[in-house]
Amino acid sequence: MKLTFIGTGYVGLVTGTCMAELGHTVICADVDKKKIAKLKRGVMPIYELGLEELVEKNVKEGRLSFTTSIGKAIKEAEVVFNAVGTPEDKKTGKADMRYVYAVAETFGKNLNGYKILVNKSTVPVGTADKCRDIVLHVGKGKLARNVSRNNAGGLEFDIVSNPEFLREGAAIKDFLNPDRVVVGVSSDRAKEVMEKIYRPIARAGRPVMVTDIRSAELIKYASNAFLATKIAFINEIANFCEKAGANVKEVARGMGADNRIGSRFLYAGIGYGGSCFPKDVQALIETGKEYEHCFSIIEAADTMNDVQKLRPIEFLKKQFENLKGKTIAIWGLSFKPRTDDVREAPALYVIEALLKAGARVRVFDPVAMENFQKAFPDRRIQYVTHAYEAVEDAHALVVMTEWDEFRTVEYPELASRMKHRVIVDGRNIFERREAEKEGFVYFGIGV
Ligand SMILES: NC(=O)c1ccc[n+]([C@@H]2O[C@H](COP(=O)([O-])OP(=O)(O)OC[C@H]3O[C@@H](n4cnc5c(N)ncnc54)[C@H](O)[C@@H]3O)[C@@H](O)[C@H]2O)c1
Repeated sequence: MKLTFIGTGYVGLVTGTCMAELGHTVICADVDKKKIAKLKRGVMPIYELGLEELVEKNVKEGRLSFTTSIGKAIKEAEVVFNAVGTPEDKKTGKADMRYVYAVAETFGKNLNGYKILVNKSTVPVGTADKCRDIVLHVGKGKLARNVSRNNAGGLEFDIVSNPEFLREGAAIKDFLNPDRVVVGVSSDRAKEVMEKIYRPIARAGRPVMVTDIRSAELIKYASNAFLATKIAFINEIANFCEKAGANVKEVARGMGADNRIGSRFLYAGIGYGGSCFPKDVQALIETGKEYEHCFSIIEAADTMNDVQKLRPIEFLKKQFENLKGKTIAIWGLSFKPRTDDVREAPALYVIEALLKAGARVRVFDPVAMENFQKAFPDRRIQYVTHAYEAVEDAHALVVMTEWDEFRTVEYPELASRMKHRVIVDGRNIFERREAEKEGFVYFGIGV
């Protein structure tokens, strides 16, 4: 089928490329000229394992192309996927919907026959209805189910909700082998088309679940809010473990062995960040308010996470009292390993607090330093090109991201370079026993 993806970011680029890999003819369109120019030269605008090879292969085989001509790309498509950003509106906490609505408008203006607009972005419940109104308002569209009866000459369209569940760092695998695909539709015609698009995934034995549109929209928020709550929950248990003399790794192992609970997302640490959980949790809380509904559990998880992000500062103050003039090495800037995404990364908050307290900050991340510099342009932050360079004469090392290469730490190397042997392990990647054996003061989360 002919598909157009509007928004060529972490979601649009990966899902568009994977759709080409499934055999569809895909145009990835974006308003960001630099991004599209890079992609045309075969340069990836994001770090995602395996993506470059997959893009190169599908471009070569003629199934994938890139453009900034959004209108033309819509006209050429049978199905248009809206994959633009829905960032948090910092003033209201709601999802900023202007990009999604702009695409709905462009879709309406360029409708030239029956087409489906698929909301792949994470959007609040009720968004599909708003997009339908926008397309109708733009004037050319008429709802497919009405048109098919008695509106010859009318241009038909459908709006579908198809939220994306991929994880950065494992995005290609997640898209091609999803736990489930969720498709919210309001017509049989749209259902048939969507089932055709995802047929290769269904044939591979993965469930393609068709629901009503509002349920599909809510499945995405409910899933993210649940996972965020699971993280906040184990962090709360971890903080209590510190007081009660228990070890959260053992507690989580025991809990996770229960099939009803499961072991995933039970890793204590300095909280969740990223481009999804924080903003989606906020947006769901705000959507609740519009319906006079209070999400008390989700609000508690959100508050808990804000406190958790700054636990490294609490540990450092316990050790040094005054952080002024202390050199703090930071390992990891991205919100999680295997991505260069620093949106809402806990490192942003910890480094801001360290600088405010007068500390000197030296940082290393295998792939996210460029993005971090853009997100937090501050000359006081010193970037280095090797993990051990960051700890030179440092008073403490703080681990913010659990990159694999940090796990194999050489304690003698650390000890020989650092001024003080202090480790704040924000992701529990080291063993307290080993660190202490080498003479380090060790702070972990609940261990
Ligand atoms: N990143 C993830 O891991 C992830 C996972 C699941 C769902 N999502 C959701 O998917 C959506 C996209 O997220 P992302 O991380 O890919 O965002 P992103 O910021 O990486 O990409 C969005 C892209 O949309 C482009 N854009 C904005 N307005 C446009 C317009 N009018 N026309 C064409 N292009 C336009 C931007 O230039 C940008 O390249 C969000 O709703 C997000 O919540 C993200």
